[in-house]
Amino acid sequence: DTSFTSTMTLTKMGLSNVPQRFILPPSQRPNSGHGHHSTTNLPIIDLSNLNNPSHRARTIDDISAACKKLGFFQVINHGISTLTMNDAIDVAREFFNLPSDEKMHLASANVHNPVRYGTSLNHMKDKVHFWRDFIKHYSHPIEKWIEQWPSNPPSYKKKMGEYTKATYLLQKQLMQVVFQSLGLNPTYLQEDIDGGSQVMAVNYYPACPQPELALGMPPHSDFGSLTIINQSQEGLEIMDRDKKWHPVPLMEIMSNGKYKSVIHRATVNAENKRISIASLHSLSLDKGVVPAPELVDEQHPISYNEGSFSDFLSYISGNDITEGRYIDTLK
Ligand code: SIN
Ligand code: FE2
Repeated sequence: DTSFTSTMTLTKMGLSNVPQRFILPPSQRPNSGHGHHSTTNLPIIDLSNLNNPSHRARTIDDISAACKKLGFFQVINHGISTLTMNDAIDVAREFFNLPSDEKMHLASANVHNPVRYGTSLNHMKDKVHFWRDFIKHYSHPIEKWIEQWPSNPPSYKKKMGEYTKATYLLQKQLMQVVFQSLGLNPTYLQEDIDGGSQVMAVNYYPACPQPELALGMPPHSDFGSLTIINQSQEGLEIMDRDKKWHPVPLMEIMSNGKYKSVIHRATVNAENKRISIASLHSLSLDKGVVPAPELVDEQHPISYNEGSFSDFLSYISGNDITEGRYIDTLK
C-alpha cells in the first residue's frame, strides 16, 4: 500500500491544528530543551582560498577544526552558481506543487526504489509522522538514473541535473580537502569516491500550523561520507556531540573517530514552507571501510570493526537506508 495524504495536501486544506499522527511526545518536541544551534553559527569556509597558495593551508586547518568540533560547515565561493542553486530549488517547488496524481505514481514504501516520492520518512513504518514530503532519486552516475527522474515539471531533469552534476564535483573537491585536513594524501580513496553513490533527497516542508508540536525530520546522523545541503531558508539544526552511539557512519570510520557524524534535524515553521536538497554521498557499496592506516598508531588504536558499506546498511536495515540513522537524543 503506497497511499497517503501528503503534508502538502493537508496544508492546502487549511488546517489550524496538526493531525494527531504528527504530534511528537512532549520530550521530543523541538523546544524540549536540548541544546542546539541554528545554521547561522556554522563556520564559514571560503573555498576560493584553496586556490590561493598563501591561504590554502589555513583553509584546510579551518576545515579540520570545523570537522572535529562540529562535523558541519558552510561553504562559500564553491563554484556552483546562484542560478544553478536557485533553479534546483525552484523546480523542486514546482514538482511539489503539482497535483497529487502527478506525483503518486512515484510513491513507494520500498526504500530500495531508485526514485521514491513519499511523506514523513516512511509513512508505513513511522509511529509519529514527520511534517515533510520528499522525492529521492539515485543520481550518480547521472546517465544511469536521470531517465527515471520525474518528467514533470518538464524542466526537472535539466535543472536538477545541472545542480546534481555541480554538487558531485564539489563533493569530490571537498573529500580531497577533508582527507588532506586529516593529514592524508588528497587522492586517498580516489577510485572509491569515483565509484561512489550520490542520492538527492529533495524535501518540502509546508508551513505548519503548530510547529512546536512537530518536526520535519527527527534527530539523526547521515550514513554516507559527506552530505551537501542547499536550503531555501533556515530550519536545519545540529546538536553538539556529547555521547556515543552505534553504528557509525563512514566519515567517522575512515578518520578513526577524529571526525564524527553530527546529529541534526529539520524543524518546521508557521509562516513559510521550506525546501531543502540534500545530496548524500557514499563510497562504492562493496568497498570495505576501514580507518586510514596513517591515522592508527599506539595512541590511536583502531576503534571500528571492518565492514563494507552494504554490511553496515543491512545491519541497520530497519531504517531508510538512503539517508540516516535516527538518534534517540534522550538516551
Ligand atoms: C534539511 O535540512 O531539511 C535536510 C536535513 C537532512 O537531510 O538531514
Ligand atoms: Fe540528514
